[in-house]
Amino acid sequence: MSQPPRLFFTRACFPEIANYLRSAFEVTENPADRILSRAELAARLDEYDAVFAMPSDQFDAELLQQSKRLRMLGLMAVGFNNVDLAAANARRIMVSNTPDVLTETTADFGFALLLAAARHVTRAEHWLRAGKWQRWAYDGFLGMDVHHSTLGIIGMGRIGQALARRAAGFSMRVVYCNRRRLAPQVEQACGASYLSQAELLAQADHLILTVPYEAQTRHLIGAAELAQMKPGAVLVNLARGGVVDDAALAQALQSGHLGAAGLDVFENEPALHPALLELENVVLTPHIASASNATRRAMAKRAADNLLAMAQGRPLDWVNPWE
Ligand code: GLV
Repeated sequence: MSQPPRLFFTRACFPEIANYLRSAFEVTENPADRILSRAELAARLDEYDAVFAMPSDQFDAELLQQSKRLRMLGLMAVGFNNVDLAAANARRIMVSNTPDVLTETTADFGFALLLAAARHVTRAEHWLRAGKWQRWAYDGFLGMDVHHSTLGIIGMGRIGQALARRAAGFSMRVVYCNRRRLAPQVEQACGASYLSQAELLAQADHLILTVPYEAQTRHLIGAAELAQMKPGAVLVNLARGGVVDDAALAQALQSGHLGAAGLDVFENEPALHPALLELENVVLTPHIASASNATRRAMAKRAADNLLAMAQGRPLDWVNPWE
């Protein structure tokens, strides 16, 4: 009998997922959850056929070009900017992601960040916990309304559309921009109108970013774009660090031009731009938009199902198809 393909986990994961994969692979886990160094990762790509990977792992072109054995790369994430797809294609390494299963949970979190930032939820809580609350005050923590405001969404894929559907419950006007304009019936279903980015920035009271990170979207929102936003506007980044120039954002928050921001992703995460940590008008979370118990389990299961399908020749969510 031929040996099963060998698979390793770059990080710890739900234990049932490794067991599930044992039906088709010889599995090596990383229960210590230690982040592998680049050299350790490179060595494993010579020894294993398959990898179960996370957004924190970087598969750059050189690493993939030099890999001697890797054929299957299953990401537990919808975003795949951490993999050089051209190099993966050249080496015929199949790469999969986990779309759909996290859409609604991530959109929920977009509203959590928007509401928390616009209404100073975390800042007020820190103040309360610090024992500073003496009496109710007419002007305590005055925030920006979310209801009946204009929501701008840049990146109108699955998550953007799920945000737009939620916005209807807050009686918001929704405007969006996207690489491609949506079909009229889709626009109608999510109650969103298409604008150019410049028009959107000028009109949005609140801006949520859900674009994929790639060369063209690096610093999509920098100093010039922040200056185009309405005074007092709120910015939420659910996309990837690097889509926003964090230094420019910190300045816009510091100057008071922006009212607040809610950020789940950062340019050099897990390191943060130090200026962001000093600011009170920003809500900071550690890349947890998809982190409901049910959704993270569904993502892990989908990543595993992709790897099992790859072992049969073709993943379910193939991000670099060459046939
Ligand atoms: C997380 O950021 C993901 O891409 O799923």
